[in-house]
Amino acid sequence: MTSTPHKMLERALSVSTRRAAQVNDEVEGDEESGADESKTRKHASTAAMRLTNYLTRTGHLWPILILGLVVICSIFVHTRDLVCLKAASSDHISRLRFFGFDDLESDFGSLGVPWCRSKQGKTVEWTMKDLLKGLEEFVPIYETRPIKNNMYGMGFDHSFGLWFIAQWLKPELMIESGAFKGHSTWVLRQAMPDTPIVSLSPRHPEKYLKKGPAYVDGNCTYFAGKDFVDFGSVDWGRVMKKHKIKDLTRVLVFFDDHQNELKRLKQALKAGFRHLVFEDNYDTGTGDHYSFRQICDQSYIRGGGHSCFRDGDEARIRFRRKKFWEKAVDIDELCGPGEAWWGVRGQMRDDFNHSNKAITYSQHFQNSRFVESVLDIYWELPPVAGPSLTHQTRYDPARVPSPIVEDGKYGLFRRLGLGRLEASVFNGYTQMVYLQISEQDS
Ligand SMILES: C[S@@+](CC[C@H](N)C(=O)[O-])C[C@H]1O[C@@H](n2cnc3c(N)ncnc32)[C@H](O)[C@@H]1O
Repeated sequence: MTSTPHKMLERALSVSTRRAAQVNDEVEGDEESGADESKTRKHASTAAMRLTNYLTRTGHLWPILILGLVVICSIFVHTRDLVCLKAASSDHISRLRFFGFDDLESDFGSLGVPWCRSKQGKTVEWTMKDLLKGLEEFVPIYETRPIKNNMYGMGFDHSFGLWFIAQWLKPELMIESGAFKGHSTWVLRQAMPDTPIVSLSPRHPEKYLKKGPAYVDGNCTYFAGKDFVDFGSVDWGRVMKKHKIKDLTRVLVFFDDHQNELKRLKQALKAGFRHLVFEDNYDTGTGDHYSFRQICDQSYIRGGGHSCFRDGDEARIRFRRKKFWEKAVDIDELCGPGEAWWGVRGQMRDDFNHSNKAITYSQHFQNSRFVESVLDIYWELPPVAGPSLTHQTRYDPARVPSPIVEDGKYGLFRRLGLGRLEASVFNGYTQMVYLQISEQDS
C-alpha cells in the first residue's frame, strides 16, 4: 500500500533474501554454465526451431520433418534423453515457432499488449527478481492447497499473483468478491495469516463442502448464501467501522465475480478503496465481462486498437494463431457489426455475459479516458512461465507480456518446483491485473 511502513517491507524482503540469493544464482547459472542442461536444451532447440521456420517458409517442411526429428533426437540422446523426448513431442514448440518468429521470447507480445496509462506513469515497486523469489516461496505453499482441482476457479498463475500482491502490500483487511469453493480465500489466508477477510459470494463455500473439497475460513466475514450482498450494495462505512479500519489505503479488494470491471471500479471509487486486483482481465474479443484490458485497448496505446480489414496483416496473423491457441480470436470473432472490435464485438458485457450492451467507439474511448484519470498504477501479472515449459495451450503469447520464467529456462523452471505441478494448473491465465487508484478529491 502507498503507506506501507518500511519495517513491513523490510521484513517481507528479509524473509526471502536467502531464497533470493539462491534463485539469482540459479538464474545466472542458466545463462552462464555451459554444463547447465537448460542451456544445452535452449541452444539445441533454438537450432531446431530456426530450421523448422526456414522449412515452413520454403514449403519443404513435411517431407523431411520426420527425418529431421530423428536426427535431432539422435543428437539429443547423447546430451540428455529427457530433452529428446521434449523435442519429439514438441507440439507446443511448433505452436511457438510456426510463424517465423526468430526467438522464442519474441513470440510474447508480438500482436501487441495494450495497457492502461496511469496519471503519472508510476509502476509497481516489485521487480522480476522479487517475483522469482516469490515463486520459489509460493510453489510449496500451493502444493498444500485444499482444493486440488479448481476448475472454473483460479489456477496457478493467478493464485501466485494474488498471493504475491497480498503478501507484498500487507493489508489490514482483505475483501474478495466471488469465492466459489474458497480457493482464493485460502490463497489470501496463506499470504496474510492473521488478517481478517470479508468474502462476498451468492453461494456460501461451505455448501461445496458437502460434495468435495472446499475452504471455509475462520477469520472471514461471509456475505454469502442468504446473507449475500453485492459489492455495490454493501454499506462499506459500516464494515470498515466494524473492522476498525480508518485508513482505506490499508484495504485490498480482490474481484473474481465476472462483473463489468468499469462498474466495479466506480463502486470501489465510491467506497474509497485504493488497491484492487481483478482476476479475469480478459483480452479484447474474449470473456464474459468488460475488462480493463478491453477498456484500455485503444488505438492511441502501443499494441492497442484493431483493424477489421479481412485482407490485412492482423486478419492473417490472427487466423493462423487461432489454430494453435484456444483463446486466440480471429478477425470474425473480434469484429462485430459495423466493424466494431472493442469489448467483445462492440459489446460491453456484464455478469457472466447475462447482460450486455452495444457501445459506440466514442463511449469505449471515453471509458478508457475515465480509467486513466483515476489510476496511479496498472500492472498486469505476467504468466509464470513460457508455454514450452508449462505446456499451456490457452492464452496466446502474442497478446501477453513476457513470462517470469522465459521459454528455454527449463533448469530454472524445475528448480523453482514448477515442474512438479500438473500442466492443467497453468491453463487459466487471463492477465490478472493490480490497480492502484490515485487519491481522489473528496
Ligand atoms: C470464477 S468463480 C470464483 C473463483 C474463486 N475466486 C476461486 O479462485 O476459486 C466466480 C464466483 O463469483 C460468484 N458470483 C456471481 N455473481 C457474483 C456477484 N455479484 N458478487 C460476488 N460473487 C458473485 C459465483 O457464484 C462464483 O462463485
